[in-house]
Amino acid sequence: MLKKILSLLLIASLSVPFAARADEGMWLPMLIKRLNYTDMQKEGLQLTAEEIYSVNHASLKDAIVSFGGFCTGEFISPEGLLITNHHCGYSSVQSHSSPDHDYLTDGFWATSKDKELPNEGLFVDILVRMDDVTDKVLEGITPATSEEERAQKIAQRMKAIAQEASENGQYVSYVRDFFNGNEYYVFVYNRYTDVRLVGAPPSSVGKYGGDTDNWMWPRHTGDFSMFRVYMAPDGKPAPYSKTNVPYKPKHFLPISLSDKEPGDFSMVFGFPGRTKRFMTSHGLKLEVNQLNKSRIKLRDKKLGLWKEDMDKDAATRIKYASKYASTSNYYKYSIGQNEGIKRMHTIEGKIADEDKFQAWANADAQRKATYGDVLSNIADAYANIEKYNLGSIYLNEAVLGTESMMLGYRFIPLYNTLKANNAAATQKAIEDLKPRVDAHFKDYNMPTDKKVFAAMMKYYYEDIPKDQQPEEFKNMVQKYNGNFEKLADYVYSNSFLVSEQKVNDFLQNPSQKKLENDPAFQIVNSILMNYVNNIAPKMAESNAKLDKANRLYVAGLRLMNPDKVYYPDANSTLRLSYGTVKDYSPQDGVLYNYYTTLDGVMAKEDPTNPEFVVPAKLKQLYQAKDYGRYANSKGELVTDFITDNDITGGNSGSPVINGRGELMGLAFDGNWEAMTGDLVYDPEYKRCINVDIRYVLFIIDKYAGATNLIQEMTLVDNGNPGAGDAAEAKAETPQAELLNATVQEAKEMLRSGKEEFKIEKKKGDVKVKLQVKD
Ligand code: ARG
Repeated sequence: MLKKILSLLLIASLSVPFAARADEGMWLPMLIKRLNYTDMQKEGLQLTAEEIYSVNHASLKDAIVSFGGFCTGEFISPEGLLITNHHCGYSSVQSHSSPDHDYLTDGFWATSKDKELPNEGLFVDILVRMDDVTDKVLEGITPATSEEERAQKIAQRMKAIAQEASENGQYVSYVRDFFNGNEYYVFVYNRYTDVRLVGAPPSSVGKYGGDTDNWMWPRHTGDFSMFRVYMAPDGKPAPYSKTNVPYKPKHFLPISLSDKEPGDFSMVFGFPGRTKRFMTSHGLKLEVNQLNKSRIKLRDKKLGLWKEDMDKDAATRIKYASKYASTSNYYKYSIGQNEGIKRMHTIEGKIADEDKFQAWANADAQRKATYGDVLSNIADAYANIEKYNLGSIYLNEAVLGTESMMLGYRFIPLYNTLKANNAAATQKAIEDLKPRVDAHFKDYNMPTDKKVFAAMMKYYYEDIPKDQQPEEFKNMVQKYNGNFEKLADYVYSNSFLVSEQKVNDFLQNPSQKKLENDPAFQIVNSILMNYVNNIAPKMAESNAKLDKANRLYVAGLRLMNPDKVYYPDANSTLRLSYGTVKDYSPQDGVLYNYYTTLDGVMAKEDPTNPEFVVPAKLKQLYQAKDYGRYANSKGELVTDFITDNDITGGNSGSPVINGRGELMGLAFDGNWEAMTGDLVYDPEYKRCINVDIRYVLFIIDKYAGATNLIQEMTLVDNGNPGAGDAAEAKAETPQAELLNATVQEAKEMLRSGKEEFKIEKKKGDVKVKLQVKD
């Protein structure tokens, strides 16, 4: 039988050479109906395309929000109750914490609406509509148009289109470019700014496994937190006010209590931040050797210095908790990505793609004229950028990565208005600065920052070519004979930027002279100005050349593969990805199950390691097996599960939705074996790590006793196992064939690495679905 399947498969794959992978892709919701819907139905979707995305009727999209511009959240009640990840709400939880009210450690639960906590600066964006405006943006622009004119025209038009779409500021709107400048879309949002903290588990649940488990499967993290969105009584967005009322979403997600099985349909709706799937081998080399390498070196040092002080003192630990977590997150990401690029031969793979492109371009005279030199232009541009790139990376990571330097950087607008002697603009600059200054000092420990300064400036001085550093800075370093501790002593005892009192005094009575003479300001300002005036111009021409070549490369690829359906790189706009619940084999001889349970939480427990402490109450519930209706059909409490959805940073908190439109869990991470995922999607390894919604409900209900929140939600119990009907439905579709197989056969098929097999395990006997992709 196996042979029959394999030969069927061979025929199928030969006849559809450019099939889009179901699981790969971050699709634009407005194009789902045209590009993906049939495929999604085959995978098990039971909703109509309009139920997913519609401008005129309530649809799934109305339940999804951009959370603060950096994560995703979704409504789960008619009263504006919003759920996202713990690591997305982390800085809000942290901002309300102190050694007396340590919500980071103990968790926080509002037992009634009046106990919810407002969060200044936090907002959620709810999409009203999106439209293709490519024709408008590119009108009259031809291959003959100069790059300069092109850029200018496009920028103007993007601005004008966004302005018009905002309907006099009623909406937040912007135009984004797609496919490296080949397409443009406008996005229109309602922005709500009264977003209150409702609940968060203790970090020992919400961040269980800490940095050790971060970016890894198997995982046991309860990565969720809850907020509520408020609106003015007339339904409009409004700043925080006691008179505001809970937002009424056009749609909220019902919650599924069903078991999940491998092969079950899953879609993730959210705001992926950035992928670089079209990046060439030339770009990748810089990512590996410059960006990731520097990030690893600089952050390793900084994190070590922070940790020393955090371990000494509770107040410092809380102040630096959120900064530490976000810095360590992409530190580990860079390590994993560099390892992965080597192991997976990512650069070699890109080179092979490029060779094909070149051969395609060369095969036709006209094509050659347009695309023949695209790759060599990309290579040339990067060769020049490479010479100056480190300075820009260190500016971000080392210089602005030092807190006092970052604060100094924030003073530059004020410095400019003072210089221009513009009283009104100065006043405005001061008002803009005040909240930033408050936020800065709320979480600031001067001695810690001073150590970081000495270390970061030393690296900057040593690693950046001397002729790319400003004279002022080099002179200062020489004055202290290259002793960075002494330089730090001088800067931190003479700069007003390291004292809250002194900064506020300055803002009362600002002076250009005082700012100019401040040593911290001098350093950051000189490095930045040197970059702007001397370094950036040297890269400008190459960047323009690169933009053009990248645009042509993507356009050429799409011409070269006319049958392939391309999706654009992530750019923080709303996307949908779909795939299935799926296990994976991280290495030869090892198979990772697709879900984890509370048993695994207990197995990892280590009371001496803060990352693996299990709260006493959770242990009691575990010992009593008191899981209520949240257990699976085997009586286990499932914590996390994996799917092959295509996600990236920014998707954090995104709903994982089943074929019926119900919430199964929240996406919160990617896995170590696919840290190259932002560069290439590898179906064998790429997985999306999700917290099971039943674990979330269990923590809210059984652990925290916040039954008030459960009552707001709609829980759907379809009975377990829930996969039966869907599997039957799938079996009827002409492209899928359900075959009985022995466990042995099934495993063999899985191991053959052919994605077309889906193992459907139903209570003992194994079914293998042969799925022919089109
Ligand atoms: N890796 C996760 C993401 O990028 C963030 C996890 C945060 N947890 C942590 N231990 N730093 O979405």
